[in-house]
Amino acid sequence: KIWTKEERYRPYQEWDKTHLALLQEKAANSKWRLGYHIQPNTGLLNDPNGFSYFNNQWHVFYQSYPMGAVHGLKSWYHLTSDNLVDWKEEGTKVFPDSLYDSHGVYSGTALPVSDQLFLAYTGNVRDAEWVRHSYQLGAWMDASGTVQKIETPLITEPPTGYTSEFRDPQVFRYNDGYLLVIGAQDETEKGKILTYQSSDLLTWQYKGELEFTDKEMGFMIECPNLLVTEDAALLIFCPQGLEAAICFYENIYPNTYVIGDSYDSEANRLIQPTALKNLDEGFDVYATQAFKAPDNRLLSISWVGLPEIEYPTDQEEWAHCLSSVKELLIKDKKLYQRPVAEMKQLRAGGALEFNKDSNSFFETDTNQYELMLSFDPLSCGTLTLFTNKEQNKGLTINFDSQHGKITIDRSQAGAVFGEEYGFVRSFSVEQKPLELQIFVDSSIVEVFINEGEKVATMRVFPETHQTGVHLECDGGYQGKLWQLRKTN
Ligand code: FRU
Repeated sequence: KIWTKEERYRPYQEWDKTHLALLQEKAANSKWRLGYHIQPNTGLLNDPNGFSYFNNQWHVFYQSYPMGAVHGLKSWYHLTSDNLVDWKEEGTKVFPDSLYDSHGVYSGTALPVSDQLFLAYTGNVRDAEWVRHSYQLGAWMDASGTVQKIETPLITEPPTGYTSEFRDPQVFRYNDGYLLVIGAQDETEKGKILTYQSSDLLTWQYKGELEFTDKEMGFMIECPNLLVTEDAALLIFCPQGLEAAICFYENIYPNTYVIGDSYDSEANRLIQPTALKNLDEGFDVYATQAFKAPDNRLLSISWVGLPEIEYPTDQEEWAHCLSSVKELLIKDKKLYQRPVAEMKQLRAGGALEFNKDSNSFFETDTNQYELMLSFDPLSCGTLTLFTNKEQNKGLTINFDSQHGKITIDRSQAGAVFGEEYGFVRSFSVEQKPLELQIFVDSSIVEVFINEGEKVATMRVFPETHQTGVHLECDGGYQGKLWQLRKTN
């Protein structure tokens, strides 16, 4: 089906009542529905928005287009949780229903302020000539979950010298006031991050460009996220059109980060920033959001999906999901990303333990499990997930701890997609005894290497009989496998 502009931007209430029900039925029948990841009931999910802790609960919203698995008129869909793994769907909370967001409630963040949650987001507007206007907007959500939009924009237009590709505000406390960082494009079509400051959240003064690199950051930066801690400053962002020589990547757009010793607010720059690095070594991570929780943990969540790429579930009227929540740690200017401790609450019963002398092939029948593998020094081998009886299909994870190399190949994992961007991702890891912790959930795999030194996330779309796990390894290893419970 070809989607016209009129259909993509048609107000939700003008769709026939039966439309959503039909989509829902089709999506619910998909064999690729997830057991414990946040996924849309119908249509398309993209960026996580407003990830926060408020009113004694975790909150996350996501970019939602419920009417089809395409990018259309976006809104914020809301979920809450007591433990970061069991999420309750609260429904669509911020609708594209005002003059300033008529063509989409785009991405943004949330900040608890006294007894309300402050939401900052981009209002996307197309005028009669289909020219884009970007407004930075605010809203308040109270403890009962009612959202009240602030009538006048926080920021009405980009500063002089920047185009209307201007979006995704992140608002956070800094010293006695507030800072806002936002993705932008300058008039020479270079990607930038701009900052603003405020003392009341309603009026914002432009501070200028955030300095964090001397390289060109492609043609646009989306979803910037700055985390300033006591001993580091972590900047996560999505540069579009970045030269691969600056930071090697194979996805259509990368999700990258730099770490500075600190953030100098006076000069509006990161002190001694590292070179750009990929946040994830896999195929599908984008638009990651992170914040410092009241318990002092740095927590992140990502969109697992990429812009401009068709996925196999599009045919089933739903697309994409959010990642599991991760805890971020910064040590010696290196980033570690680990599954949050709460992930253990998903384990359904005890672990199946195995080693080199026992079993090397398992049928999991659900494809919902956690796998922990500790290898002896210098081990090399191949782990195949989603394999079949003949063992000629599956997602292969090839490891060589002697040379510190991991290669993941999804070409035989199931339905084929994203061919243009390749089926293989290869990356280096520390040359030490390898540890893998892997979360599998029907059509997503999250691989944590050496306690979060690297992470590789990917969607795969296997056939129903592809439920085996096979390990071939030249050295010894200890393995544990837990079945995980469903939360959806
Ligand atoms: C990133 C993005 C954001 C924008 C949103 C719209 O995936 O393009 O820049 O706010 O998605 O859905």
